[in-house]
Amino acid sequence: MFTSNMQVQGLQLIIKILLSTFSKTYFNVANINALDFTVKIDNLQRAKFVEKTYSDKLLSSQVLLEIDQFSFTSNNITYGVVGEQMNYWKFFPTQSGYGIIPAWGLANVVISNHPDVQVGQRFYGYYPMSSHLLVTINNVSSKGFVDNTEHRQALPPIYNFYTNTEQDPTFTPETEKLISIFRPLFVTSFLIDDHLEEQNFYKASQILITSASSKTAQALAFLLAHRKKENALNLNLVGLTSKKNMEFVRQLGWYDQTISYDSIAQLNSNEKFVVIDFAGNHNTQFQLQTLLNKNLVYNCLVGLVDWQNLEGENSLPKKGEFFFAPAHAEKRQKEWGVSGFQQKIGIAWQEFMDAIQSTISIKEHIGVQELEKLYSDMLNGKVDPKNGNIVSLNKMNKRS
Ligand SMILES: NC(=O)c1ccc[n+]([C@@H]2O[C@H](COP(=O)([O-])OP(=O)(O)OC[C@H]3O[C@@H](n4cnc5c(N)ncnc54)[C@H](OP(=O)(O)O)[C@@H]3O)[C@@H](O)[C@H]2O)c1
Repeated sequence: MFTSNMQVQGLQLIIKILLSTFSKTYFNVANINALDFTVKIDNLQRAKFVEKTYSDKLLSSQVLLEIDQFSFTSNNITYGVVGEQMNYWKFFPTQSGYGIIPAWGLANVVISNHPDVQVGQRFYGYYPMSSHLLVTINNVSSKGFVDNTEHRQALPPIYNFYTNTEQDPTFTPETEKLISIFRPLFVTSFLIDDHLEEQNFYKASQILITSASSKTAQALAFLLAHRKKENALNLNLVGLTSKKNMEFVRQLGWYDQTISYDSIAQLNSNEKFVVIDFAGNHNTQFQLQTLLNKNLVYNCLVGLVDWQNLEGENSLPKKGEFFFAPAHAEKRQKEWGVSGFQQKIGIAWQEFMDAIQSTISIKEHIGVQELEKLYSDMLNGKVDPKNGNIVSLNKMNKRS
């Protein structure tokens, strides 16, 4: 069986080489081999790589990018969990029944048929978990370009913009991995922190954050701890986490108290609580809601890392409120102006970067097998919160 599979693969390889030589010789067209990591939409546990080819003869305004690296956190798994409802499968369509999970990362232009985009330029943005992305550009500035490929036109513009890293001094070889991992998450935390302050913390004395070890929660805890210190606020920041991650959460130094999911009963239910929920675990929600009851003054639903436990037997006494980050961002952009908004995020971001560099350990995952393993671990909650995971499918090609 194994031998016959190898024979078939060998035959496929010979056919590919013959076809590629034929195209090059007779039509002067070369093919670029590419790979997509696809997952089954109705069963995320099933994933497969799909091979495809791009011709080096691009249509007008098309540009082919080779994806150098992308970050991978539970946020990407959540894209898959809510892919259908939130349109995440629409960014990078693939075979019927399968989807490609989007990821933030960096890519280099390898072929350009647009006069204002040059081979070798490097762009940061929203990429498929793939080796390549073909874009169609109609709007280039020194800051970057917008992918105007037909199927992306109706999707939120923020995801279609690609930043030219040469023109943005925050991108350096040292920072670009941290930017891919944290920046998309940090903006949400910045907006939650700002919203809580605007609402005077709903007059609560306790802010409890679930999945306290997650990267988005880390950013929020950092911002709240900073705000608390600056303004001498009487707030107790509680990190709720799994037993195995207690020590990690404690040593971050931003939470005042760290407790595990099985110790919820220890909370002082006489105090007023704000809950920021990144876990989405039904039973945790049930316990918090029943214990805190009327003293749960704001229950903010942001994440679904515990996607296999979103349902439970006990119906929840009350629903929480989904935090819709784009609405809050829009409101602040109107009030502060777009550049004022960006400036405030920029200052907070820099402070966070300085703080996080000593706690994170960057792990690079190269090639198909390492991506498959990381995906399966991430899906099943086997993640070490101190790791920042970066994936590259192209470095493998260069390595072998
Ligand atoms: N709505 C928005 O705008 C927005 C923006 C950013 C992020 N988010 C959401 O926030 C959540 C956190 O994302 P992230 O990328 O920051 O996560 P992350 O850093 O990868 O989170 C890792 C942590 O999540 C928990 N966890 C991970 N997988 C799990 C699983 N399968 N079952 C149970 N627990 C699991 C564990 O924390 P504990 O042991 O501490 O529980 C783990 O240490 C995601 O759901 C993401 O989509 C939402």
